[in-house]
Amino acid sequence: MLVGGQGTRLRPLTLTTPKPLLPVAGVPFLAHQFARLRDVGVTRIILATSYRADLFEEVFAGGDFDGVELIFVTEAEPMGTGGAIANAAAALESGPDDPVIVFNGDVLSGHDLGAQLAVHLTSGAEVTLHLVEVDDARRFGCVPTDSSGRVTDFLEKMPNPVANQINAGCYIFKTRVISTIPTARPVSVERETFPNLLQAGAHIQAYVETAYWLDLGTPATYVQGSSDLVTGAIASTALPGAPGQALVLDGAQVSSSAQLVDGSVVGTGAHIGDAAIIRSVIFDDAQVGSGVRLVDCLVGFGAVIGDSSQLERCVIGDGAVIPAGQVLSDSRLWNQDGVLTITSE
Ligand code: GTP
Repeated sequence: MLVGGQGTRLRPLTLTTPKPLLPVAGVPFLAHQFARLRDVGVTRIILATSYRADLFEEVFAGGDFDGVELIFVTEAEPMGTGGAIANAAAALESGPDDPVIVFNGDVLSGHDLGAQLAVHLTSGAEVTLHLVEVDDARRFGCVPTDSSGRVTDFLEKMPNPVANQINAGCYIFKTRVISTIPTARPVSVERETFPNLLQAGAHIQAYVETAYWLDLGTPATYVQGSSDLVTGAIASTALPGAPGQALVLDGAQVSSSAQLVDGSVVGTGAHIGDAAIIRSVIFDDAQVGSGVRLVDCLVGFGAVIGDSSQLERCVIGDGAVIPAGQVLSDSRLWNQDGVLTITSE
């Protein structure tokens, strides 16, 4: 599992916490990933860490998640997605033709891993990629396939994509293919390894399945994913409670007149006044005043939202103090050297 990226699109939250450890539906996002893998029989996960690697070992101390063995392999320098796979391969125990499943650590997916593995094994491919179909592929690189499901190209973002299939960030490799990835420099698996393999005539197979799929890499998709887990739109056995309109963790204090809806989350130690919190994630120890309205917001650890503020699609960094009466949308707010800094999208 690749978890070493800097998560720049989620700054300022990722300045302190790596993206895969940010709280999503009440637990670090990785806990949902681990639970899903445990539930389909995975017993050993290698985490390719880089950015803030020590925090992963702290949060999942002991290298065990409910019986799943966790192994941390850290790059000396960030090696990109391909370099991270090559580096982590040192901990593999598989034979040359055995399958190795690689996940992006920030994707929430309900696809059938067993079915992807079956396609990989029956097609005999070197690599099998999970692809999803999207209505508008212009924001993504697209991955066309032939009638047998074999990948024919990897195309960068374009105004008129030739296919609506995109790379969903879950790959099955034959172990020996991983040993062909260079280790001495950063490598992107998406931009370099896959196109080069194709050019060299390798068989890359597609597994197309459009079950629930979301890349939680942006503020909008993060709130969406967290909300979908809370409401049960996608199931997770790591959800700390029953699915519903909102998740309030033990130790939070919420005013009886507060309105918490659309899959909002209130973290441990947070205080919520008479506020309306709509599809937002309030991290531990944050404070939200009375008369506040939050829509699609992420409120960092220990942040304070002053009374009557109205915030929509805002990301508030850890410990930031927002004065009363602020009306803002599409902004990032954080504390820089004791000064509240605001940038608009
Ligand atoms: P952005 O900076 O917002 O694009 O996020 P990101 O750094 O996570 O990059 P991206 O979403 O493209 O990364 C896809 C997956 O690969 C994520 O799970 C990252 O944690 C992981 N990843 C990206 N670069 C590296 C790297 O150099 N080393 C390791 N170990 N993982 C990486």
